[in-house]
Amino acid sequence: MEGGAPQEFEVAIERAIAAPEAFGASFDEAPSRSELELGAGLEGDPAIAFRRTLGMFATGVTVLTARVAEQVHGMTANAFMSVSLQPPLVLISIDRRARMGALLHEGTRFGVSVLEAHQTGLSDRFAGRVAEDVPEPGFEVVHETPLVEGALAHLVARVVRSYWGGDHSLFLGQVEFARYGDGRPLLFHGGRYERLTEDPQVFSLLPRELLDPILALGEKRDYADGEAIMRIGEKGSELLLVLEGTVCVERPGRTITLGPGELIGEIEVLDPAGGRIADIHAVGRVRSLAVSREALLGALEADPRAAIALIELLAARFRETA
Ligand SMILES: Cc1cc2nc3c(=O)[nH]c(=O)nc-3n(C[C@H](O)[C@H](O)[C@H](O)COP(=O)(O)O)c2cc1C
Repeated sequence: MEGGAPQEFEVAIERAIAAPEAFGASFDEAPSRSELELGAGLEGDPAIAFRRTLGMFATGVTVLTARVAEQVHGMTANAFMSVSLQPPLVLISIDRRARMGALLHEGTRFGVSVLEAHQTGLSDRFAGRVAEDVPEPGFEVVHETPLVEGALAHLVARVVRSYWGGDHSLFLGQVEFARYGDGRPLLFHGGRYERLTEDPQVFSLLPRELLDPILALGEKRDYADGEAIMRIGEKGSELLLVLEGTVCVERPGRTITLGPGELIGEIEVLDPAGGRIADIHAVGRVRSLAVSREALLGALEADPRAAIALIELLAARFRETA
């Protein structure tokens, strides 16, 4: 359904509805779920195996919203996809038993709020699960449509077509409003919530009284503008503290800048064999302090409180995604 002026698009849709066999198997010929063949090793209830197979497809999580008189109805959904850029179209798939389905028909609007990594409580709440201690969410109304405040991205779409989708109904929406902010998305994979790994921080999270004696072992190191500080894959045997200037950290898919007081190489100095995970260069003149791995291990031996604090920090990181 890519491309084409709105008019051509309308024609294509009309043809697809009039003669579905020309566009693939007709709806009536669609195999029922009981005929589904499962791969070797998948035993038990085919419905569960099918659901689990689909669960391998990682998605974000949205709250779909609709206005009912002066009330808001919200429903958690991960069956959301982009369809077309021109015209701007998105698709949602709604269980026929869900109340949301009854509120949508051609011409009505729905909101899509893409949840941020820490909004699991909101996701549970709008999925009808018990969600304790979740404050009442705020809604902002755009194009007469409620949107969940604090979400990572928002869309408002008007239903232009709806389709049979087995035990679900599919709603194609023409997007009227779109915006996004900074942050990380909540993910859903294998039936549970996941998050993207945060920027790797270990030493920077240590209390000052444990970190300062380690940094005191550093040696001064200066870099000229544009000079490489670290390269991806290189053995990482130093922890670097930026004292002055700006450094540019380029990781595949993400570039950030760091300034005075920030640390570089926190993971690699503990796991040097894995190699550097980013290309880093100086932006302007940079002054720094470099703590060698040997000096660092010596400091941890001398004061095991710092080593214990590091283990606790790492354990907390695992708990976040457990
Ligand atoms: C992460 C997650 C994703 C979900 N995705 C969908 C979905 O895409 N479509 C759907 O119909 N239900 C989905 N659900 C279930 C609905 O949120 C749930 O049935 C909800 O209670 C329906 O609300 P309603 O009947 O009040 O409209 C999802 C639930 C969770 C937790």
